[in-house]
Amino acid sequence: MIKVITYGTFDLFHEGHYNILKKAKEQGDYLIVGVTSENYDKTRGKLNVKQSLIERIENVKKSGFADKIIVEEYIGQKIEDIKKFKVDKFVIGSDWLGKFDYLKEYCEVIYVERTKGISSTQLRNKERGILKLGCVGAGRIARRMCKESKYVSGINFDYVYGRNEEKIKEFTNKYDLNFYSTDYNEFLKEVDAVYIATPHLTHYEFAKKALEKGKHVLCEKPLCLEKAKAEELYRIAKERKLVLYEAIKTAYSPAFIRLISLAKSGVIGEIKDVDATFTKLMTDYSLREFDKNQAGGSVTELSTYPLIAIIKLLGYKYEDVEFVSYYGDKDVDLYTKIILKYPNSIATAQVGLGVKREGELIISGTKGYIIVPAPWWKTEYFEIRFENPNDTEKYFYKFEEDGLRYELSEFLNSIVNHTSNIHIKEEESIAISEIIEKFRKLRL
Ligand code: CTP
Repeated sequence: MIKVITYGTFDLFHEGHYNILKKAKEQGDYLIVGVTSENYDKTRGKLNVKQSLIERIENVKKSGFADKIIVEEYIGQKIEDIKKFKVDKFVIGSDWLGKFDYLKEYCEVIYVERTKGISSTQLRNKERGILKLGCVGAGRIARRMCKESKYVSGINFDYVYGRNEEKIKEFTNKYDLNFYSTDYNEFLKEVDAVYIATPHLTHYEFAKKALEKGKHVLCEKPLCLEKAKAEELYRIAKERKLVLYEAIKTAYSPAFIRLISLAKSGVIGEIKDVDATFTKLMTDYSLREFDKNQAGGSVTELSTYPLIAIIKLLGYKYEDVEFVSYYGDKDVDLYTKIILKYPNSIATAQVGLGVKREGELIISGTKGYIIVPAPWWKTEYFEIRFENPNDTEKYFYKFEEDGLRYELSEFLNSIVNHTSNIHIKEEESIAISEIIEKFRKLRL
């Protein structure tokens, strides 16, 4: 009996999928089809898959060609499958030509002609249309998003707004964009959604105006420096059925999502303590980050990361918050320890622009603890440890490059599917603004 194996996502099952399965089956007597899991697709950067794993498995089943269907969950699994199922032939479309030659050591590798003019990506784009996303600001983070947006299908990141014409012209040329404007109203007319990547104090105004003009908003962190403003923005978004996302990239990344689910599943018992640190030593004191009038300082600049971890783990209903800061001879905090008290647990966050400290996240429970080494905010690797070191469990999920593609992809999904943000809930985002506001009030 000749055993054949093939793999794919098989999203929105189309003629190309039917043809490849047919051709694969013709290569032998028994066909095994590997369907990618949601998590695997995410970790390999394939975002925006429309159908669930179950639906995609159903698609393959209905074709009638598969004798066995398996789930592909991790990179390197193909070799294991080929050995385990004693596979004779590996079949894949010609778009992958050469990419699987390394499997020749284990079985015959056959690339079959891909069906022209059809793909899941095309169907997804046709179904949901292309979102015209404009960038507000042309700084460092905007440049990163420009690059990352290439990994999210269904988005046309082709528009930029800025006050400095020289700068946005350069940005437009460098990233081959279509349109720039120094007039915000003009710019808003051209787009369906905006990504706000400007200094903190401008977020609220830009976001509010965009929402009032019916545009979805993905706003860099912190969304607002005051609770009431954040509440107002979410209210406008809700009234107008628009999507408003705070762009704290960690919260949308595959490893962090897995980490939170694991921690909350009780694997380390009851969570009693969360300790998260994020420091970024900067020495050029002329920068905005050190300017009090531009809301500089460690808390405004860095605290959203540790706070989102704490809030995801212990909730947004803290009982009390305290701050201990070091200012040196500056107007802004160079280092701050934030202490959040909960009815049955405690959390501490350390942030510093002028003090360096190990950037790790430790979640302590009644049965064990989880350690996420620096840089934990680009969550990739973590360990669950217990009293007995032999029981340690290790986890790894890739965090791709700058990791902005995850938030962008979720933002797009929310717009297309009319769903709210499940990774950072409105209340969680508002709680972060409230904590920052409380801190800033201490020195007003
Ligand atoms: N395939 C094909 N002809 C097409 C599309 C896909 O032969 N027009 C093959 C691929 O080469 C692969 C299998 O179908 O062997 C599953 O591919 P998959 O990635 O699920 O399909 P795509 O339509 O290419 O999906 P996407 O656009 O999301 O990349």
